[in-house]
Amino acid sequence: MKPVRLVRLATAPLLAAALSVPLAAQAAAAAPPQQHSAAPATHAHHGKPGTLRAAAPEGFVIGSAVAGGGHHLEQPYPDPFTSDRPYRKQLAREFSSVSPENQMKWEYIHPERDRYDFAMADRIVAFAERNRQAVRGHTLLWHSQNPAWLEEGGFSPAELREILREHITTVVGRYAGRVQQWDVANEVFDDTGALRTRDNIWLRELGPGIIADAFRWAHEADPSAELFLNDYNVEDIGAKSDAYYALVQDLLAQGVPVHGFSAQAHLSTEYPFPSGLEDNLRRFAELGLATAITELDVRMNLPESGVPTRAQLAEQARYYRQALTACLNVTGCDSFTIWGFTDKYSWVPVFFSGQGAATVMWDDFTRKPAYHALRSALAEAARDDRCHRRHG
Ligand code: G3I
Repeated sequence: MKPVRLVRLATAPLLAAALSVPLAAQAAAAAPPQQHSAAPATHAHHGKPGTLRAAAPEGFVIGSAVAGGGHHLEQPYPDPFTSDRPYRKQLAREFSSVSPENQMKWEYIHPERDRYDFAMADRIVAFAERNRQAVRGHTLLWHSQNPAWLEEGGFSPAELREILREHITTVVGRYAGRVQQWDVANEVFDDTGALRTRDNIWLRELGPGIIADAFRWAHEADPSAELFLNDYNVEDIGAKSDAYYALVQDLLAQGVPVHGFSAQAHLSTEYPFPSGLEDNLRRFAELGLATAITELDVRMNLPESGVPTRAQLAEQARYYRQALTACLNVTGCDSFTIWGFTDKYSWVPVFFSGQGAATVMWDDFTRKPAYHALRSALAEAARDDRCHRRHG
């Protein structure tokens, strides 16, 4: 069984570095060496009974993406986060962590070379503070959703390097002490485990060493933030996650401040559950890294009626539970985020024709079996932790 998790206590949401308190001596002894000592402020549950955040064990955050930007701009509804009060209410009630779905991406936050637009990101961070939620920052170095001024600007390598340094310093610096985890480098490998040296402008123009620099700049701008490598199709042990494993070892050997590895976990019931998830997270934990699940959803092929069958919903609930349990079982996997909580705003039907129903709530926020699966797995883990503390 996983040792009792470390609890990070924050006395105020803006506190940059909080105390890291081991609950039991043997827990500290069993924990992997933490290369990153300045734990960020985290967030007690403050949840109403019956919610996900209230069910979660101490020190474990349960998060959701905050719908806005990206595909939502093309949908026939106004911005979800600012316009949908019942949506915001659920987001505040149920979750102890939030991840801007698109609002911190380059095209959104840095629309012109000399202009940033922090309006939405500021609102999300303020919302998180009011509701005592952690924030996962997403993302700083990526091949996608970059503005045309950057991709088509014809910049020299020296200019690009300075543009990236300035961006990371500005964005991470603005939210210093207020973002628990940053996805510094997102999706840097393709599915074969090769670095994306063609479609990623930074890797193509500046070479792989730019990854280390991005982490260094982010760490300078906010020494209290946990800095992550984040990707999809890295749930199981395989070519792509092996590439991350080698990259992490290389970065750590150079003394680069990389603190976490996270699996997005965009799953589908069409494929078997990635049964190596727990072992995979554990091998990164054994390198001294935090791990996280950052974007879980579980899509399915919809019947002609558009309404999933009971069997499909039960299968989906099983995937959600298994993903959460894998994380709960690994020391240092203390952050678990779903990529939206309601089908009303999910990216899935927009990207996968004929598929959907990927989240844990229907459009009207009523709960699916997957919601209950998450809540009961959290409650069981909390009971185990309390029991362990009393007897262990
Ligand atoms: O490129 C056009 C742009 O030219 C146009 O101005 C704009 C407005 O209509 O649309 C643009 O493309 C959209 C893009 O966001 C950028 O705004 C796409 O149509 C839209 O589908 C896209 O959606 C986002 C997607 O990332 C893009 O990669 C989704 O909302 C967002 O949920 C999704 O999130 C990603 C994570 O960041 C990383 N991991 C995978 C995950 C799911 O794809």
